[in-house]
Amino acid sequence: MLRLQSPLPESYTTSTGPDLAERIAAAKKALGDRLMILGHHYQRDEVMRWADARGDSFGLSRQAATSEAEYIVFCGVHFMAESADILTGPSQKVILPDLNAGCSMADMADVDSVDEAWHELAAVTDVDDIVPITYMNSAAALKAFVGRMGGAVCTSSNARAVLTWALRQKGPDSKVLFFPDQHLGRNTAYDLGFSEDDMAVWDPRRDLGGLDEAIVKGSRFLLWKGHCSVHQRFRPAHVEAFRSSHPEGKVIVHPECAHDVVELADEVGSTDFIIAAVERAQPGTVIAVATEIHLVQRLADEHPHLKIVSLDPLVCPCSTMFRIDAAHLAWVLEELVAGRVVNQITVDPVTAGDARVALQRMLDIA
Ligand code: 13P
Ligand code: SF4
Repeated sequence: MLRLQSPLPESYTTSTGPDLAERIAAAKKALGDRLMILGHHYQRDEVMRWADARGDSFGLSRQAATSEAEYIVFCGVHFMAESADILTGPSQKVILPDLNAGCSMADMADVDSVDEAWHELAAVTDVDDIVPITYMNSAAALKAFVGRMGGAVCTSSNARAVLTWALRQKGPDSKVLFFPDQHLGRNTAYDLGFSEDDMAVWDPRRDLGGLDEAIVKGSRFLLWKGHCSVHQRFRPAHVEAFRSSHPEGKVIVHPECAHDVVELADEVGSTDFIIAAVERAQPGTVIAVATEIHLVQRLADEHPHLKIVSLDPLVCPCSTMFRIDAAHLAWVLEELVAGRVVNQITVDPVTAGDARVALQRMLDIA
């Protein structure tokens, strides 16, 4: 989703890398403790080097919740900055260096379609038995919906714990409506011991999600038809090709990958988990990683005693994470030094209140 912002002034677009680095360093120094820069693992190195804390979306939401900095510059994507705004105090300001850094998966579910799905479900089944769970990769309005309906947010690092919690909230007929990523929902449900018969994909473009009433009633997991375009590129054929050239190699994948890829992997987990798994590997291990290329490349650079490659040799970066660059970072920081706040992310108080309930449930569960 494109969001309007003022164009980046020419003094940034024409600056060289070393000049931008000097400007960022000076602005950071001038702002001191008033500033905290958070960097998601998919950020470019030219941005990540300035992060005061790096993390996956769960770790960064915790950092935001505990930070006392006046300005939190979030080098990540829009939904992460929104969550940070919800979890920080009223006097703190959250800034996203480029407002067009969205997430195509998050855009696959909006509150109107989820509300409509809820009403359609209510016509055929008892919605009191349904716990809605939204992946962190979703707009604040969806987190608020979930907060109002007794559900919670989850991230890729705590989806198992949150779904276990959700299934305990109601009786034996309880269901989970999981959005927007069908893959994380499916992979976690399999991980919890459920089978394909327990799950159905809800297509928001079709009446009753394209499902029969009997299927809706018989399913434990209704999985929203959304996906990440970066992670769905990884295919079982990539695992097979890697294994035939590196029979001793390891395959580590993110749970946004399709289940047929996850099934063939040695390990599966969030970006923080992937980093920890690489750090545990014996020297000389060859590892194929299925996640965004900037993280894979950084892991390869930081672990020269291992051979780390992307599982898909024709890699595709996350184009929205890539929007945050040194020029935008320098711009928002220099504006702060000048006393101007640009690209602030604010969630209205009513939405924020309901969304905070859902985020807090997640933080309490995990
Ligand atoms: P993590 O929570 O693992 O950092 O993932 C966020 C994300 O957007 C993955 O595509
Ligand atoms: Fe969204 Fe996929 Fe990019 Fe993650 S990698 S921010 S899910 S588009």
